[in-house]
Amino acid sequence: RKLSSLEYLDLSSNNLSRVPAGLPRSLVLLHLEKNAIRSVDADVLTPIRSLEYLLLHSNQLHARGIHPRAFQGLKRLHTVHLYNNALERVPSGLPRRVRTLMILHNQITGIGRDDFATTYFLEELNLSYNRITSPQVHRDAFRKLRLLRSLDLSGNRLHTLPPGLPRNVHVLKVKRNELAALARGALAGMAQLRELYLTGNRLRSRALGPRAWADLAHLQLLDIAGNQLTEIPEGLPESLEYLYLQNNKISTVPANAFDSTPNLKGIFLRFNKLAVGSVVESAFRRLKHLQVLDIEGNFEFADVSKDRGQLEEEEDEEDEEDEDEEDEERR
Ligand SMILES: *[C@@H]1O[C@H](CO)[C@@H](O)[C@H](O)[C@H]1NC(C)=O
Ligand SMILES: *[C@@H]1O[C@H](CO)[C@@H](O)[C@H](O)[C@H]1NC(C)=O
Repeated sequence: RKLSSLEYLDLSSNNLSRVPAGLPRSLVLLHLEKNAIRSVDADVLTPIRSLEYLLLHSNQLHARGIHPRAFQGLKRLHTVHLYNNALERVPSGLPRRVRTLMILHNQITGIGRDDFATTYFLEELNLSYNRITSPQVHRDAFRKLRLLRSLDLSGNRLHTLPPGLPRNVHVLKVKRNELAALARGALAGMAQLRELYLTGNRLRSRALGPRAWADLAHLQLLDIAGNQLTEIPEGLPESLEYLYLQNNKISTVPANAFDSTPNLKGIFLRFNKLAVGSVVESAFRRLKHLQVLDIEGNFEFADVSKDRGQLEEEEDEEDEEDEDEEDEERR
């Protein structure tokens, strides 16, 4: 109580079962992670008006253990780590000025209409590795998050991209869910999106109509690796630079595959089902910026004896091109 200038206090890796009362009011950064904290009472934190960073990850917090007024009035608190706890829902009464909220690795099953109704300043929200299912995400849950730049919903149980995703995000990660479809219009209006990760789902080519990407005018990176695609997705945005499609079942690269994406720098097609002869070389001709084309782990069904000569020739050409590129880089 007498340490009236103390700004930094690290009580992590102890055996605290609750947030201690009477902490210095001058604290800016408070480490309480890796304890056995089960509760945050109403007025233990609220007097610490200067608090900016609160680290409560790796404790034993259930949602009911966090008092709804536990963060009230903490106007400077912008970074809250609550990951690796036992939260079954988003705690109520989140600090209003929070910008970074890490609540990954909990047991959250859904997102209610008002869970984020007052956190207007949120920029980064990481909800990965919870138990969120599609029907449990309210369609208006993200309506107030106009400043959100990064949303991570990976490692949940979504079977479709939830409707009502925040429109202004730059990075959206929905890896390792059970996505079989992108709900119609799920990506509509997301003109700010730069990076979209749909890795490790169950997407098939017919679930991705060419309209799916229509509004993504700034998309630079699209990762659909580890799905069940049989074709290169159609109608991809012109802004796209990196396309990750490895570990799918893509069997052909038609001549027009990259017509809509002349700015590609990297195409990753490793471990698909491409066969010699099903890749039209001219598909790559217009890609003036292409630096990486990874097609390793394909062609296993090729008739090697017949095609060997041709393959080797192609490889030689590739090597030469590599050297040319290296030369250019050196220059
Ligand atoms: C931590 O505290 C609990 C009771 O709160 C006690 O049972 C346990 O032995 C303590 N662990 C250590 C390592 O002191
Ligand atoms: C969410 O947290 C995990 C674990 O730290 C991290 O790997 C992931 O990149 C984070 N998501 C975003 C969008 O930063």
